[in-house]
Amino acid sequence: MTTPRILLIVSGGIAAYKSLELVRLLKRDGMRVRAVLTKGGAEFVTPLSLGALTEDHVYSDMFDLKDEREIGHIQLSRQADLVVVCPASADIIAKMAAGIADDLATTILLATDKPVLAIPAMNVRMWEHAATRRNIRQLAADGVTIMEPDEGDMACGEWGKGRLPDPEAIAGEIRRMLSGGAAGDVITMPPARLLSDASGPLSGKHVLVTAGPTHEPIDPVRYIANRSSGKQGYAIAAAAAQAGARVTLISGPVELPTPRGVTRIDVQTAREMLAAVEDALPADAAVLVAAVADWRVERQAGQKLKKDGSGAPAPLPLTENPDILATLAISAQRPRLLVGFAAETEHVIDHAKAKLARKGCDLIVANDVSGDVMGGSHNRVHLVSAGSVESWDETSKENVAARLVDYIANRLAN
Ligand code: CTP
Repeated sequence: MTTPRILLIVSGGIAAYKSLELVRLLKRDGMRVRAVLTKGGAEFVTPLSLGALTEDHVYSDMFDLKDEREIGHIQLSRQADLVVVCPASADIIAKMAAGIADDLATTILLATDKPVLAIPAMNVRMWEHAATRRNIRQLAADGVTIMEPDEGDMACGEWGKGRLPDPEAIAGEIRRMLSGGAAGDVITMPPARLLSDASGPLSGKHVLVTAGPTHEPIDPVRYIANRSSGKQGYAIAAAAAQAGARVTLISGPVELPTPRGVTRIDVQTAREMLAAVEDALPADAAVLVAAVADWRVERQAGQKLKKDGSGAPAPLPLTENPDILATLAISAQRPRLLVGFAAETEHVIDHAKAKLARKGCDLIVANDVSGDVMGGSHNRVHLVSAGSVESWDETSKENVAARLVDYIANRLAN
């Protein structure tokens, strides 16, 4: 049996130190490891420690002539059975997806004819960013195997998905690939690692939630917005995740932490929110809690609007934003259960009934926002569906969320 050869590319990120432990485990398992260290990676681990563990030269400079004479980058990429990028930063992932080759590591990745395993590690927001999602999909389509990051506390103090998996799990995946595992897989960690309830009433379901306000820019410093805090939507996302659902939370600008087990996508405007919602489909249920701005200015000014001295206000022609709920209701991918919210200051139930019909959803959760509901911690809601109105006593937004999630689970079960 020949010794399996791993070409390990270490890119920048706080998790780079774990690559040292990975080298130790791979050597323990009888593999030969040769390391390539990117400029960013070298900020976190030294060539000396990587070289000591691999017992080999550590390659980092594309234009190091001595290296090119001894072993060129093409050879380097070919003299391996498997190329492993660990950790794979958002930056190297983007370059891989775009086919950029601007240093030794990315050139090797473009030149190699060997299977590639990438193990991303980054801040949760970077992991959830639409650009990273797109790049990961592209890499999987290109045949790169991606090992999904773990969820947990991050070095930056946030909580979420983005942690490098345990080096033992990575070593296990490398052994699997060397023994002929499929390329192009996106390997998700076993459900035991998730904190949501895998046996909960929403397990196996995908729930989409929108929350918060939208900000519609007027000029570089001003925008149209509303008082929505996002609390009710975030509470619903948290309750759905606790009930075992896979939850995508599409959020306008709010000051709230991402609930555990929830994938959050941040947007600013109504149009961005609609695009993110459409991108997240299909879903079993969608709960649209966001207070979407009804209008945006027709044309955003490139520079700050100035007073012209006449005393007349700047003209601000408005145009209507897309209605996300109504768009979803007639979409080919309409979720089986579509829930809207209605913030009203008068004739709450009558307006909710009209909205239910106008928007084509299955349920409207109506609340009276004439008091301090927006930004407050409590809510009194009425559930308006075809032919029925159910009014709940005022309670905390968390309780409203928990009851609503029960209601959704029941409706999906029937
Ligand atoms: N909604 C939406 N897209 C919009 C406006 C609203 O998806 N452009 C959704 C909200 O998330 C909510 C429901 O529609 O679930 C009702 O929102 P609301 O602001 O109460 O309704 P509007 O359509 O804006 O009606 P109006 O302003 O006339 O009360």
